[in-house]
Amino acid sequence: MPANATGVGDRPRKRTFLDKHQIIERNASLLLVGSLLVVSIGGIVEIAPLFYLENTIEEVEGMRPYSPLELTGREIYVREGCYTCHSQMIRPMRDEVERYGHYSLAAESMYDHPHQWGSKRTGPDLARVGGRYSDAWHVDHLKDPQSVVPESIMPPYAYLADTMITAEYTQDLVKAHAAVGVPYTDEMIENAAADFIAQADPFSDWDDLVERYPGAQVRNFDDAPGISEMDALVAYLQMLGTLVDFSTFTPVASR
Ligand code: HEC
Repeated sequence: MPANATGVGDRPRKRTFLDKHQIIERNASLLLVGSLLVVSIGGIVEIAPLFYLENTIEEVEGMRPYSPLELTGREIYVREGCYTCHSQMIRPMRDEVERYGHYSLAAESMYDHPHQWGSKRTGPDLARVGGRYSDAWHVDHLKDPQSVVPESIMPPYAYLADTMITAEYTQDLVKAHAAVGVPYTDEMIENAAADFIAQADPFSDWDDLVERYPGAQVRNFDDAPGISEMDALVAYLQMLGTLVDFSTFTPVASR
């Protein structure tokens, strides 16, 4: 059979180097071995550095473990399924950054177990909601969302204000997060219950608390006596996105 069977041109076609590829293409086992080889080179290049990199998350000034009250609020956030309607991850796209603020950094969720990035936004992203509204707004909104945002479809959570919490399990909660890698110190664990109570009481002795958790906001969040789940949840919401100071932050790439 002539090398060129199409009848176009009459000179026999020269065998090129690429024609040798036929050897692999016609031998399934050889093709399999070859593919595995190529894929593993790619894999090694991506995976090997992870073994000797100490940390894959860029450290960012200001990030600290959550205070006991904030951590309790976070537990309530998870329990109530707020993540089914709210994300906590601002993507680096112009519309997101203009609406919500600086895009989220990996370090900002490094103490979240489990993370709250979410994948669904029935409501807005909450990664930087801290400080955007007053405590009273949050309390009104959580009790009856339509009272402040008439067109809202968010369900009411009024019972949070009537459900009081004690510091009985606070230390266990902090210990649990320490066990999965959050760097709570022995001192933080020891004082967990006291810090929990101090943060919700503006007349408490909260110097040590703020030293342990810089930037912790101390006040009676729901403006009602006692510590309720509302206090904890609002303390958590008011902290979100406030730990890193973005007026002084420069990403490593542009440093
Ligand atoms: C069924 C979906 C849904 C669930 C569940 C839900 N929300 Fe919302 N949320 C919304 C929607 C929609 C809005 C926007 C309208 C509004 O402000 O009420 C919103 C708004 C908010 C806002 C105001 C955000 C902003 O930037 O204006 C906060 C804060 C908030 N939700 C907190 C929570 C918390 C905390 C929980 C859990 C206790 C929760 N939401 C559960 C749907 C939901």
